[in-house]
Amino acid sequence: MIDIGQLRKEFQDERLLEKDLLDDPYDQFEIWFNDACKAQVPTPNAMALCTIDPEGMPRSRTVLLRKIERNGFTFFTRYDSKKALHIEKNPRVALHFHWKELNREVTISGILVKTSVGESRSFFSSCNRRLRLAARLPKYPSPVDYSEMEEKLESLDLQYDGTQIPMPEWWGGYRIQALRFEFWQGRSNYLHDRFKYCLCDSDGWKRQRMAP
Ligand SMILES: Cc1cc2nc3c(=O)[nH]c(=O)nc-3n(C[C@H](O)[C@H](O)[C@H](O)COP(=O)(O)O)c2cc1C
Repeated sequence: MIDIGQLRKEFQDERLLEKDLLDDPYDQFEIWFNDACKAQVPTPNAMALCTIDPEGMPRSRTVLLRKIERNGFTFFTRYDSKKALHIEKNPRVALHFHWKELNREVTISGILVKTSVGESRSFFSSCNRRLRLAARLPKYPSPVDYSEMEEKLESLDLQYDGTQIPMPEWWGGYRIQALRFEFWQGRSNYLHDRFKYCLCDSDGWKRQRMAP
């Protein structure tokens, strides 16, 4: 049995120094995101999305970041999913990126708002055919009958053979309006570099170093 207590990769020491940090955390994120792409981190846009259910129980799952913009980060999903149900009741969420090849993580907390139908449609039309067909499947109750779903997918494939696949009304995006960012750079001496940015109403983003 592998001793998971001893599982840890040794990393080259990188620093995240106060003097190198940008004033705007979106700019800082973009630099780190580009570093992750350059380092060929597999699926660098995969992030954990943590929501809170109506009973107060947290739940996280992976979603793909699809747009990085100054007014927020966007992902797309089904509006009839469990996460959407949580978000409807409580739009406060956390996002988490772990780029292990760089020994870095970024955590973002904020409030989600739905993207406009036009924006969702525009993204939907850029997605591959398989995603668009699967998105048109109705919501199935659990436990699900897999063969029934496969048959439905085949019938949708025939129905939309050679025609546009319209975006279903249960599909769309969410954009996070970030209130807090945390950037963490792991170090071999365990004195990790960690900075948080908080959005203060009048003063914009305030930054401070945190304990590792
Ligand atoms: C790498 C990866 C990327 C994923 N991307 C998405 C995504 O962009 N949108 C989405 O709705 N689900 C995505 N999923 C599936 C979700 O993790 C999740 O299983 C699904 O959305 C149902 O979540 P829910 O029941 O909590 O709503 C992805 C899963 C993985 C492993």
